[in-house]
Amino acid sequence: MSKGLTQLAKPVEAATSLEAERDEILEGLLAEPKRISSKYFYDERGSMLFDRICELPEYYPTRTERAIVAEHLSEIAELVGPRAAVIEFGAGSNAKIRQLLDALEEPVAYVPVEISADYLMKQAKELARDYPKLNIQPVFADFTQPFDLPEHPVMPERNLVFFPGSTIGNFTRAEARELLGVMRAEAKDDGALLIGVDLEKDPAILHAAYNDKAGVTAEFNLNVLRRLNRELGANFDLDAFRHEAVYDEGRGRIEMRLVSEKDQKVRIMGLVLRFRRGEHIVTEYSHKYSIEGFHAIARQAGFEPRRTWTDPRKFFSVHFMTAA
Ligand code: AVI
Repeated sequence: MSKGLTQLAKPVEAATSLEAERDEILEGLLAEPKRISSKYFYDERGSMLFDRICELPEYYPTRTERAIVAEHLSEIAELVGPRAAVIEFGAGSNAKIRQLLDALEEPVAYVPVEISADYLMKQAKELARDYPKLNIQPVFADFTQPFDLPEHPVMPERNLVFFPGSTIGNFTRAEARELLGVMRAEAKDDGALLIGVDLEKDPAILHAAYNDKAGVTAEFNLNVLRRLNRELGANFDLDAFRHEAVYDEGRGRIEMRLVSEKDQKVRIMGLVLRFRRGEHIVTEYSHKYSIEGFHAIARQAGFEPRRTWTDPRKFFSVHFMTAA
C-alpha cells in the first residue's frame, strides 16, 4: 500500500536496488524468448541516457508533444478548469509538469506517483522551491496498481491525471487498458486525463527514432545489462550483445532487443544462462496507436475522449478525456 507524504518533510533513502525484483527478473530471463522489463532501464545512468534520447534529431516524440501542448495550452487550461489536483503517473521531466502547472488556473495540488524514491524527491524538491503555494504530495507507489491518494489540504475542484511522453506505449494493449482503468479510478467521477500517445507512421521514421546514428539508444538498451552486472552480480559481457530495434507492423509496435553476438553463457544469481548466437532478449515494446484505436481502449476503461490534438505531420497525439 502506498504512503502519501506531506510536503517533502522527510529525507529519503537511495533508490532500491534490483534485489527486490530478483524473482521477476529471473522469470523473464528463463522465458522463451528471454525478456527484461523496460522499467529496469531507469537507473541514474539510464535516466540520463533517456534525457539524451529526447534531444536526438531522430527522436521526434518529446519535442513534438511539447509543441502540441504549447500550441493548445490555453484551451487545455480552460478544459481542465480552476483548482485542479494534478496526479502525474511516473515523475517525468520537470519541464512538462511546469509547462502545465504554469498554464492551469490555481492548481491546488501536484501528486507525482513514482516507484523510484530518489527521482521522485529530487523532482519534488525542485518544484517546491519554484511553486511555494502548490501542495506537492509525492506518492511512492507502483502506479500500475491502485494506490491511495493523499488528502489535500485544499479541496480540489477535480483530479487531472497527467501521463505524457507516450509511456502508455511501453505497456501491451491489454496492460494499457488496465492501466487506464487505474487512472479512471484515481481521477474519480469528475476527473479528467491528459495523455500523450505516439501514433502509427512510416516504419522508416520509427526505425530511425529507435536506431539513432549517435548510438545513444543502443547505449540506453545495453545499460540494462550493466545494471544487472552491478546490482545482481551478473557477468554479461556488454561487447557480446548488440542493440536492435525492429518495427512489427502487424502488432503496431517497436520491439527493442539485445542480440547475442555469439554462443555464450552468462552467470546471474547462481544460474547459468545459455545464449545461442543471434538469440535475443526483448527489453522494450513501444506501441504506436491510431487515434481511433486509442479512443477505443480509453472508452473501454471508462474515459470519454473530448479533444485530440496532433502536429501537422500527425506523428504524435495529445488527448483530453473526462470520466465517462
Ligand atoms: C519512455 N518511452 C516512452 C520511450 C519510448 O519511446 O518508448 C523509451 C525509449 N526507448 C527507446 N527510446 C526511447
